[in-house]
Amino acid sequence: MGYHFHQKLASIATSLDANRLMAISLGTTRVIISSHPDTAKEILCGSSFTDRPIKESARLLMFERAIGFAPSGNYWRHLRRIAANHMFSPRRISSLEGIRQRVANDMIEGICSEMKMRGFVEVKGILQKGSLENVLESVFGCDLGLVHGDELGLMVKEGYEVISEFNWADYFSLGFLDFRGVKRRCHKLATKVNDLVGRVIVERRRNGVYENKDDFLSLLLSLPKEDQLSDADTVAVLWEMVFRGTDTVAILLEWIMARMVLHQDIQAKAQSEIDTVMGRNGPVRDLDIAKLPYLQSIVKEVLRLHPPGPLLSWARLATHDTHVDKHFIQAGTTAMVNMWAITHDPSIWADPWAFKPERFIEEEVSIMGSDLRLAPFGSGRRVCPGKALGLATVHLWLARLLQEFKWVPTAQPVNLSECLKLSLEMKKPLTCRAFSR
Ligand code: HEM
Repeated sequence: MGYHFHQKLASIATSLDANRLMAISLGTTRVIISSHPDTAKEILCGSSFTDRPIKESARLLMFERAIGFAPSGNYWRHLRRIAANHMFSPRRISSLEGIRQRVANDMIEGICSEMKMRGFVEVKGILQKGSLENVLESVFGCDLGLVHGDELGLMVKEGYEVISEFNWADYFSLGFLDFRGVKRRCHKLATKVNDLVGRVIVERRRNGVYENKDDFLSLLLSLPKEDQLSDADTVAVLWEMVFRGTDTVAILLEWIMARMVLHQDIQAKAQSEIDTVMGRNGPVRDLDIAKLPYLQSIVKEVLRLHPPGPLLSWARLATHDTHVDKHFIQAGTTAMVNMWAITHDPSIWADPWAFKPERFIEEEVSIMGSDLRLAPFGSGRRVCPGKALGLATVHLWLARLLQEFKWVPTAQPVNLSECLKLSLEMKKPLTCRAFSR
């Protein structure tokens, strides 16, 4: 179903009157799909769908040993606890503000120089570079070095490409066949990642100065003996953080900026909110975000219209027989939630195709997973653990970019066509112009 899988599934569900639950088979894989908040809640928050069906490419790229694909047993719980304490805790998120601010400054500089050189800006490249720098420094600290950073950036890019490839082996038992060279590419990439990240771990340990450092790698190496991970598991977890943390944030911000360029009145209203709150008090900081409700509602409205994971990215797998909406579901069934269908459903959202951040000023809607009308980070035990960190980054960078520049279109109108790869990307990358305010 290609780059519009989410849209096609939504229209099939509507045409069959099967929004609450639809069953299909993908090869030999039994799949159920929910396009309704009630059944989505049963799936995401129940006790059965707590594993993930693992794609062959994800397994070969070591994600089975990382949080996202580890089966929901003790090992997975251990990883989530370590990540919650040392990567995603509120204290840790706020201690990373310095890095976010420095990267925001670099992005602003990059935008100014692109405007000077070309007269327009291609935001995607700038956001991706910034997002990668931000994650690398949070995960590895500042001594990773430019060369290693660039190499890891290329590896993440290759990883996205190969994991987004359709692989017949995920749906049919094809043994050793490798039609599109997916296995070969994954093996090659995994070797490179193991090599590079493995070397960084050995060097860090040899230097032995990680006790007082605040990056995730140093914190992992300083864990008490009983909590320590093996080197192979440490590589998998660090690689996962870089892989997950880079693209989601950059893609979401690109959609937000596209909407800002398209809706000049909304952009001006957000800027006036920032000016009123900040006055002449310099750049927006994390603690100012709470005073910017309109800016936050813009982010929510973009997450509603353009959720980075319209099918919540990674499906769930039933670990035991269960019932959803009174239908019997066998263990081993894959479940997907079509969040895009839910957030575009006119029986749930008034005027669902219109871009109206005001709707979230009128009604408080939590996007953290408790309200299944809008759960872009998933819900339940496997909800995205990086949601608060991702949002802190997006809010701060959006505020800084709007405070600094007025964003206007080029002669090419903004094109909102979607393209579903690993995440939901803009089919035509946004180009626009940015003028200092
Ligand atoms: C805009 C930003 C982000 C969005 C929209 C997003 C979305 C999601 C979604 C939909 C899931 C699946 C949840 C479920 O099955 O219920 C997920 C899982 C996950 N996300 Fe995120 N994410 C974002 C940022 C991040 C960041 C910054 C990180 C880490 C640095 C991260 C790490 C993870 C991990 C490790 C999982 C797997 C959790 C598990 O299986 O236990 N995400 N994310």
